[in-house]
Amino acid sequence: MSTTVPTGLDQPLLRRVDFGDFQLPNRVVMAPTTRARAVNDSLVPTRLHVTHYAQRASAGLIITESTWVSERAVGFVNVPGIYSEQQVSAWRQVTDTVHALGGRIVMQLWHTGAASHPDHLGGRLPAGPSAVNPRVMSFTASGFKETVTPREMTARDIATAVADFRSAAANARRAGFDGVEIAAHGSFLIAQFLNPRLNHRTDAYGGDRERRGRLLLDIVDAVAEPWEGRCVGVRLAPYLSPGELFRVDDDMLADYDALVARLNEHPVAYLHLRGRDITTPGAGPDFEAIARYRRAFHGPLMANNGFDRESANAAIEAGIADAVSFATHFIANPDLVTRFATGHDLAVADRETYYSGGARGYVDHPGISTP
Ligand SMILES: Cc1cc2nc3c(=O)[nH]c(=O)nc-3n(C[C@H](O)[C@H](O)[C@H](O)COP(=O)(O)O)c2cc1C
Repeated sequence: MSTTVPTGLDQPLLRRVDFGDFQLPNRVVMAPTTRARAVNDSLVPTRLHVTHYAQRASAGLIITESTWVSERAVGFVNVPGIYSEQQVSAWRQVTDTVHALGGRIVMQLWHTGAASHPDHLGGRLPAGPSAVNPRVMSFTASGFKETVTPREMTARDIATAVADFRSAAANARRAGFDGVEIAAHGSFLIAQFLNPRLNHRTDAYGGDRERRGRLLLDIVDAVAEPWEGRCVGVRLAPYLSPGELFRVDDDMLADYDALVARLNEHPVAYLHLRGRDITTPGAGPDFEAIARYRRAFHGPLMANNGFDRESANAAIEAGIADAVSFATHFIANPDLVTRFATGHDLAVADRETYYSGGARGYVDHPGISTP
């Protein structure tokens, strides 16, 4: 990493920036982190969520944990939704508190599609682009289970999924969010449609890469409707291979190149790009892998995966990213912005508490001013 990057108050991470209609006072973004704390039958966020997000309000932008757009989208245990009035009013307490503390918060919208499991859907089969098992694991109430062969979505199912995203975005607005981010990464619905190993359709949503990418673009336009201005981010993870059927090759990267080029024509506030995993111990993030999307996408770019203060400052200074999001560092360091500003050491998250439910590991990480 460059040693010329400033590390004090003038470090690039602490410079303000505009992302679409979001004005960020710093570029330290809280990445979405599923924490499985909505431990109730109605999948409603709790007081713990209010505390967790309030503790992190100094982030330039908070992106919530992935949140269900409808009951049909569910595919992981104890994750909250944004499809019922009860959920909307509970999320309102989160957004009101973050805003009162001077923060900004967008909601990440999630649909697992074929990566769900009958256990989450009252025994019904999950639905995906085609009747092809994505061969990933679904976290159910009785632990991780292998996915099954889903049923193929009808044209009506697809229209329903797009409508679910639209109404979730409208609900997020009513709940006081500043915007939404579409979860188009991983082994989930949108990435399933993009993937020719899973999408064998011959209609307007399958076949060539343009048709396989259409679902995301339809969803972008749908979720943009309830907002004025640019309030919709998109999360992509072109290098992520959550299973053999999602393995990354040149064709898949070309699919993403084409998709990102088309995103430029839609009302996207920012692209949230998860870069390559770091496989060499001690190495930093692969800047060139991120720069590919910097060149392709014309709007603000948020980079993620394996960054620390030094590499994040270097990426912004080099012009590769406009902001950097942090997941694991924000889990253990609610005052991450202060720690970066002061050069303070970072605490390390305990993986055992990632999805364990309850307060431990979720709201009990002290800030540096705490004795
Ligand atoms: C506990 C945990 C939960 C996560 N949940 C989500 C999620 O809900 N949505 C999402 O897009 N990414 C999720 N991720 C991925 C992170 O946002 C991020 O891409 C990854 O942790 C790499 O960033 P980092 O090096 O800053 O931790 C999760 C990661 C962790 C560790």
